[in-house]
Amino acid sequence: MFSLLLKMSTVLQSASSAITPFFTSLASGDESSNSASLTAGNTIKPVYVNESCLEFLLMEMVDLMFRTTADSENDKEAVFYKLEMLGYQVGQSLVERFTRERPRFVDTLDVVKFICKELWSIIFKKQIDNLKTNHRGVYVLQDNNFRWFVRMSTEAGGADAAKRAVPYLWFPCGLIRGALANLGVISVVVAETNSLPQCTFQIKIAKS
Ligand SMILES: *[C@@H]1O[C@H](CO)[C@@H](O)[C@H](O)[C@H]1NC(C)=O
Repeated sequence: MFSLLLKMSTVLQSASSAITPFFTSLASGDESSNSASLTAGNTIKPVYVNESCLEFLLMEMVDLMFRTTADSENDKEAVFYKLEMLGYQVGQSLVERFTRERPRFVDTLDVVKFICKELWSIIFKKQIDNLKTNHRGVYVLQDNNFRWFVRMSTEAGGADAAKRAVPYLWFPCGLIRGALANLGVISVVVAETNSLPQCTFQIKIAKS
């Protein structure tokens, strides 16, 4: 599935002129070309992905996992696991790419702030709207206009739509966990939504 994402993003780059840099790092992911462009004047040529296609892909990915995995309620967990792992790998790759030239992070809060501001901006072109912490290893990230939910709805709307959107949060949960892990912060990430396109991610840092 991960390689499908890679393939899709490679196909999409050539197909589109708009305008999201997400998966740039993956699409142009072979290190040789990266380092080549890095040495040639420190610029990385942007690679663009058609955003509609990306959204369709992300939606289809969830459906595909259900079609190929779940035939009972228990299998939901298997679907969760697959999507979360997929997100984890993408999160790791993104962080590798986008922290390459940064100074080291000072502490966990610094890392979480990076996720909320910089990583979120790279992926969603906006920052997290609200960050709360209990200062004991729990961080709550609220996005009032989660980009991947903006064009989702169901006929009934409201709570029904929110309930059915939950599986679409598993990939981004993994993404956050992968990003954190690659910055040395081991965590558990869960998410919920009460009404689209709002959603909340809760990060629980593992005690070391
Ligand atoms: C993006 O993809 C959609 C769906 O295939 C297409 O309708 C749209 O024209 C594409 N946009 C651009 C800018 O290529």
